[in-house]
Amino acid sequence: MSKQDFEGRVAIVTGGAGGIGSATVQRFLAAGAKVAAFDRDQGRLDQLKAASSGPVSIHCVDVTQWDAVSEAVDKVEAEFGRIDILVNVAGGGSPTTIQSATPEDWGRIVGLNLTAPFYCIKAVAPAMRRVGGGQIVTVGSLAAFQMSFNNGVSYTAAKSGVLGMTRHAAFELSRDNIRVNAVLPGPVMTPQMDAKIDAKSRAAVPKQVPLGRWLSPDEIADPILFFCSDASRGCTGTHVIVDGGLHVGAQYDRETYFAKRGE
Ligand SMILES: NC(=O)c1ccc[n+]([C@@H]2O[C@H](COP(=O)([O-])OP(=O)(O)OC[C@H]3O[C@@H](n4cnc5c(N)ncnc54)[C@H](O)[C@@H]3O)[C@@H](O)[C@H]2O)c1
Repeated sequence: MSKQDFEGRVAIVTGGAGGIGSATVQRFLAAGAKVAAFDRDQGRLDQLKAASSGPVSIHCVDVTQWDAVSEAVDKVEAEFGRIDILVNVAGGGSPTTIQSATPEDWGRIVGLNLTAPFYCIKAVAPAMRRVGGGQIVTVGSLAAFQMSFNNGVSYTAAKSGVLGMTRHAAFELSRDNIRVNAVLPGPVMTPQMDAKIDAKSRAAVPKQVPLGRWLSPDEIADPILFFCSDASRGCTGTHVIVDGGLHVGAQYDRETYFAKRGE
């Protein structure tokens, strides 16, 4: 995206202080947008602000709370005068199984990955209507289609729900000229992932992913900006999987596959 592509437009990025979120914030700033980052981690929001050279406002918000979301959206509209784009990035999982998940675990993970994007979409839609349209992107996961690597039943269910909500919102908001799409990452190496992942999983990913490596946060931010730009003006209610090819579902790693064929 060039410096002019998002000139004059205002984007809200939830989870804006995290790995994929902060890469998305920086991409928008580089493309000329004004950005409001919502995150519950004030320390990381401060770091984001310090690392950003463009117009970014930071909001310490728990996106699972309707009143907090609604209030923060109003503040952004008052500060920047309009809202054109919402990117729902805040999310995260838990390794719980049907047996181990408590009702609280289930509610927390579904609340963060599915209910929070719903609250944010509901809160921004009136502001987008006032400016004649907008773009909404929710970051889902390859877990909508496959068992997730480290996460459990609640995450898989919530990320699957993101696709249904995306389709419904795309239809309902189409008459307001608001497009709604989703980006579904596979394994992405973020600072938080780097800090928590065990050596076995770290080494396994490059063997399983056809591109042979972990993806970077920028490689998710770029398709997010695509869905927010006029280049995707014909797309709504759809998604793109960005996973280095993991979804093709090969039974072997590349080395074994070609060795079996003597190539
Ligand atoms: N990293 C991966 O491999 C991967 C793979 C598939 C999908 N995803 C999805 O991508 C998105 C971003 O993941 P990431 O790897 O950048 O994670 P991350 O942990 O680096 O960032 C998530 C951010 O969301 C914030 N957050 C969490 N709960 C919040 C709440 N209630 N209110 C406001 N902010 C909150 C966190 O403080 C953090 O800054 C998530 O939706 C995740 O499910 C990530």
